[in-house]
Parts: sequence; structure tokens; C-alpha cells
Amino acid sequence: MPHSLLDLSGRVAVVTGGGGHIGGASARALAEAGADVAVVDIREEAANAVAAQVAEFGRRSLAVVGDASRYEAVRATADEVLDAFGRIDVLVNVAGGSEPRPFLELGPDDYERAFRLNMMSAWAWSHCVAPQMIGRAHQRIVNIASISGKHGGGPPATVSKSAYASAKGGVIGLTKGLARELAPDVTVNCVCPGLIHTTNTSRITEGPDRDAILSTIPKARFGAPEDVAAAVLFFASNGADWITGEITDVNGGQYID
Ligand SMILES: NC(=O)c1ccc[n+]([C@@H]2O[C@H](COP(=O)([O-])OP(=O)(O)OC[C@H]3O[C@@H](n4cnc5c(N)ncnc54)[C@H](O)[C@@H]3O)[C@@H](O)[C@H]2O)c1
Repeated sequence: MPHSLLDLSGRVAVVTGGGGHIGGASARALAEAGADVAVVDIREEAANAVAAQVAEFGRRSLAVVGDASRYEAVRATADEVLDAFGRIDVLVNVAGGSEPRPFLELGPDDYERAFRLNMMSAWAWSHCVAPQMIGRAHQRIVNIASISGKHGGGPPATVSKSAYASAKGGVIGLTKGLARELAPDVTVNCVCPGLIHTTNTSRITEGPDRDAILSTIPKARFGAPEDVAAAVLFFASNGADWITGEITDVNGGQYID
């Protein structure tokens, strides 16, 4: 039984990128706290697997295949969730990813792809879901940006992440703008993960620079998807009702501003 301030019983949540590491952990955390969860991902099998885990908590679950980087696809996906669940109370924008490449090798298409996946996805989902949130209490949008959106890159320091950093910086600005505009019904907050140990990051977290990178993290460990999910759950909860426009670092102290 979750603490009453974290209790999400009766709420409907959507997690984009819900088939991935952080999205999956977030979907499970929301379900454990009592929410029904729609798991949206471009990968059908991954969405199905996490939706099955949500159902194990005794919640209604739905796996939906959808491309978060295309507005029309987002609208169709959001409508599918609304048809099934009747409303959406909690939107968690997790879909994203990086393709680190030197700035001079990146062209307009690369920048557009990075922005579509990381920034426009959060905008499109918010744009499609917010209208039915307005006028209802305790509505939530939680965006996942990145430590890169604040300090320009991630470890190792020499790997360029200019496109990703710009797009995630955009997510931070979007969060602040929407927080003002969608108040008082909807809170909009953002989580900036640091280096999370996953199969995507193992070349770094298990690579030759592992110890050097670890030495830059005061908490002396890499993050886990569950570390990010804990912040998502808090922002989704009633306990966070008076917090909006907040950009929260979940990075073990690697970057403190
Ligand atoms: N892992 C880290 O260290 C880290 C650090 C900072 C920020 N982040 C951010 O956290 C989020 C999740 O990262 P993760 O580590 O869980 O990665 P992940 O690859 O495990 O999860 C991303 C999910 O998004 C899905 N996806 C990709 N393109 C999509 C699209 N167009 N439409 C819908 N779904 C799509 C993928 O299939 C995947 O399931 C991303 O936004 C990422 O930028 C991750």
C-alpha cells in the first residue's frame, strides 16, 4: 500500500518510450502506486512486455505502438489511449535517445531527427493530451530531459552531443513554458537523468573509462532506471501538487547547479 501522498489509485497514466529502460521502470512504478498505465513505444514487443508487467500489479494496462516523433501518429496514439481508458491524468514523456557524433559531421537531417525524437515528441504528446486535462484537478506532465541538456554533453567529455543537448535543452524550456500556461490544473516538471546503466550505455559504464567516469560521480555509482522512475512517481503524485516548472537532476551529484 503506497503512502497516501504517492497513491495513484484511479489515475490513468501514459508513458511514451514505455518499452525502454527508464520508461519501463516508470510504468512499473506508476502501476505499483495504483495507476492504470498505457505503455506507448515504437517497438511492439517491448511495449507488450512492459504492459504485461503493469497488469501483474492488478492495474489496467494497454500496449500501444506509436511513433512519438510524428505529430499525426501521436494524435492517433493518444486517441487510441483515450478511447480505451476514457482520460489521461498523467503523461510521462520518456521517448528519446542520442546519437553522439562530431558537430561538423551533423547535418540538418540529423538535427531534425534529434529534435523530433527528443523535443517535438514531448511537445506533440502534451499538445494532444493537455486539452482533456484542463479543468480537472491533479493533472500531471513529466518530461525526461538529460544532464546533457544542462551542461552540453555526457561522459566521456570529448563525445559531442550537440544535437541531443540542444533538443533536451528544448525539453527544459518546454517544461517551464507549459508549467506556466497549463497551471493551475496541470503541473509540468522535468527530470534530467545523469548516466544510467543500461544496455545502451554499457559501452561507457563497462568500458575502459568506467572508473575515471565513476570518480566524477559523488554518489560513486551509475544510476539505475528505478532512480529516475522514483522522481517520475513523485512528480506524478499528489505530494508534488505545489511543484511545477521544476527541473530535477537525478545524476548522483555528477552535475550540480
Ligand atoms: N540512459 C541514460 O543514461 C539517459 C540519460 C539521460 C537521459 N536519458 C533519456 O531517458 C529516456 C529513456 O532512455 P533509456 O535509457 O530508457 O533508453 P531506451 O532506449 O531504453 O528507451 C527509449 C525508448 O523509446 C522508444 N522509442 C524510440 N524512438 C521512439 C519513437 N519515435 N516513438 C516512440 N518510442 C520510441 C524506444 O523503442 C525505447 O523503448 C530518453 O529520452 C533518453 O534520452 C537517458
